[in-house]
Amino acid sequence: MNGKKVIAAALEKALKDYLTLDDITQLIEQPKISEHGDLAFPVFSLAKIMRKAPQMIAQEIAEQLDPNDFEAINVVGPYINFFLKKDQVSEATFKQILSEENHYGDKTIGDNRMVPIDMSSPNIAKPMSMGHLRSTVIGNSIALILEKIGYQPFKINYIGDWGTQFGKLIVAYKKWGSEEAVKKDPIKELLRLYVDFHEEAETDPSLEDEGRAWFKKLEDGDEEATHLWQWFREESLNEFQRIYDLLEVTFDSYNGESFYNDKMAYPIQLLEEKQLLTSDAGADIVDLSAYDLNPALIRKSDGATLYITRDLASALYRKKTYDFIKALYVVGNEQSIHFKQLKAVLKEMGYDWSEDIIHVPFGLITKDGKKLSTRKGKIVLLEEVLQEAITLAKAQIEEKNPTLTDKDEIARQVGVGAVIFHDLKNDRLNNFDFSLEDVVRFEGETGPYVQYTHARCASILRRTHWEKKADQTYQLNDTDSWEVIKLLQAFPQAIERAAEKYEPSVMAKYVIDLAQTFNKYYAHVKIVHDDEQQDSRLALVQSVEMVLKEGLRLLGVHAPEEM
Ligand code: ARG
Repeated sequence: MNGKKVIAAALEKALKDYLTLDDITQLIEQPKISEHGDLAFPVFSLAKIMRKAPQMIAQEIAEQLDPNDFEAINVVGPYINFFLKKDQVSEATFKQILSEENHYGDKTIGDNRMVPIDMSSPNIAKPMSMGHLRSTVIGNSIALILEKIGYQPFKINYIGDWGTQFGKLIVAYKKWGSEEAVKKDPIKELLRLYVDFHEEAETDPSLEDEGRAWFKKLEDGDEEATHLWQWFREESLNEFQRIYDLLEVTFDSYNGESFYNDKMAYPIQLLEEKQLLTSDAGADIVDLSAYDLNPALIRKSDGATLYITRDLASALYRKKTYDFIKALYVVGNEQSIHFKQLKAVLKEMGYDWSEDIIHVPFGLITKDGKKLSTRKGKIVLLEEVLQEAITLAKAQIEEKNPTLTDKDEIARQVGVGAVIFHDLKNDRLNNFDFSLEDVVRFEGETGPYVQYTHARCASILRRTHWEKKADQTYQLNDTDSWEVIKLLQAFPQAIERAAEKYEPSVMAKYVIDLAQTFNKYYAHVKIVHDDEQQDSRLALVQSVEMVLKEGLRLLGVHAPEEM
């Protein structure tokens, strides 16, 4: 029983001539100050229809309600404030969570429609950047959240494995590289070659021409070029896989840019047919001045295609293959113009589904306020960051719980979970500074703190051997537990809000809130204490345990039973 539903049902009789049940439910809100009531119904929107002063309307409606349905009903100006019956609400809440378990909050809103999520998408021959880490964890959490409410997410790792840079890399490898060196430390060596190429090219511009020529060969399927490219790709993917394994993120497709190499002729032909291409110094562009955007460069004068050309081909392919209801692109904010152009070109082509292409941007991770960059070899190696977090988590565990079995696996879950949680807890568009020490702290608004609270619940339940009894009802009506119960009730709404805004931080903030509120309860109330309420208090602990675990799961974070 959801509080809003109870109130809406009560109001329906009085308002049936003016508002539908849905409208009423929509209007119900939470008062800013909890002393004002658990929920409130503002009557502003009725004032126009009923042609009366809001205060009067509120008074009149309140008089028509059955006072027995609530603990109290107060009219304050244009608001009708409701205090719910704590025993009833707590009973219904525990009953629902304890029976639905990890399905609490499941919805069928998505109607099983597909949502391809373009995420992670690192570039081969380069280290995976912090930006790619963000894309990976944000995309993964959005996929889990959408799945929870009935969509069918489809995670696509659109690997950056095509473009003129591979021509340059081949040139550099043939001039200064060796098989041995690449095999030994693939990404580092390939990055070195790439950096060297650019340094040399500053004094020797002919290198650029050589690079272009080799990329042309690659595009034309030249054997040597293809072979080298395939090898670089494989070595890179193997290294990326180690990071994905640590994060436990999987993909449904690795179709990267090269997959579209033979699929670009079609969109280009369509653009020609629709007379959208204009020539600009030999290059083909789509004019987007009507959208206040720079023209989209589709084909260079030498016939080479570009990043956006491949994205056009991939968008068409995804629409045709997945018949998506929405297509998400979890990509840094710095590419927002690119996605505006992509949408605009699709719109010009006459596809109304261009509206369903959604760029889900995010901000930068900084270090001491400065952008982390991969250029000039100044890189932060992700794998090292994750390993470091695991080491720090291990040290914390050794200190707090030295006899724990399976310390290494728990340290991995806590260390990696900490990095993921730290990334997801802020609005995704915010930039944030990265400091490992902050990430793995057990106190404050961190992943380990939430995990620790979950483990605390699990431990109470273990110690008391508590199990729910099928025909027993659990009720609480004290004010300490009420704060926890209200939050438990709000879990499904938090999921929906996170999904609507493509914002995992909503879920991260929710679990922090629940953990903090529970810990306050834990500090005030003696939970394990033999009286007739003990069973109900343990039902609350069990409910919190389940919701924290499921909330963390939706972020891609484990909830160990002990830590
Ligand atoms: N590989 C690109 C990069 O690292 C990101 C690709 C994003 N996805 C897309 N469909 N454009 O910047």
